[in-house]
Amino acid sequence: MELTFLGHACVYLKGERSVLIDPSPPEGVPLPEPDIVAVTHGHADHLGETVRMKKPTVCINELAKYLKTKGVPAEGMNYGGTLTLDGVHFRMVPAVHSSWIEEAGIGCNGGGSAGFVISMDGVRVYHAGDTALFTDMRLIGELYHPDVALLPIGGRFTMGPEEAMIAARYVGAPLVIPIHYNTWPVIEQDAAQFRMALERTTDIRVRVLAPGSTLEI
Ligand code: NI
Ligand code: MN
Repeated sequence: MELTFLGHACVYLKGERSVLIDPSPPEGVPLPEPDIVAVTHGHADHLGETVRMKKPTVCINELAKYLKTKGVPAEGMNYGGTLTLDGVHFRMVPAVHSSWIEEAGIGCNGGGSAGFVISMDGVRVYHAGDTALFTDMRLIGELYHPDVALLPIGGRFTMGPEEAMIAARYVGAPLVIPIHYNTWPVIEQDAAQFRMALERTTDIRVRVLAPGSTLEI
């Protein structure tokens, strides 16, 4: 499977099928045309182009209801549940975060905020979404054994690098890719330092990906 980091929380998985997670890359970054979109929560920096793309979209129930009113073929699910779409297996896991859908200056509750463990071509990818550190990340590791963990490190709206180091240990994936940092000044972080600190103290490897770069997993 090829994993491309498009920037912020936007990640593109290409294997037998293609999945685009949180299609809101930084400005000017073109989006691929995926088979499936997966959205972790309703905040604009994650929902992004979902409505425009109108692809089969996996997300939490309440957000799915909203998306259906916009003509998006959304597939709702909830924490602890699984769904197989086009041969791609999605498991929705909790994230400690809020959710809100904003439209024309008004908003509505987005239901909740999630992470995903996505299995395709025998590879399991954990995308944590926006989240604080929580001890049940251990369960995600114990139960689902992800091969890769995409963890936010930006701080302010999610956990920062120190908590993400603990999250990486809890999840136990052999490979960690930091996300959700350096998009705006308030979430600026030194990802190279995060990598060095985690690799010095664990067997976990960290790949810091520049937006647009691809990794074969
Ligand atoms: Ni958010
Ligand atoms: Mn966010």
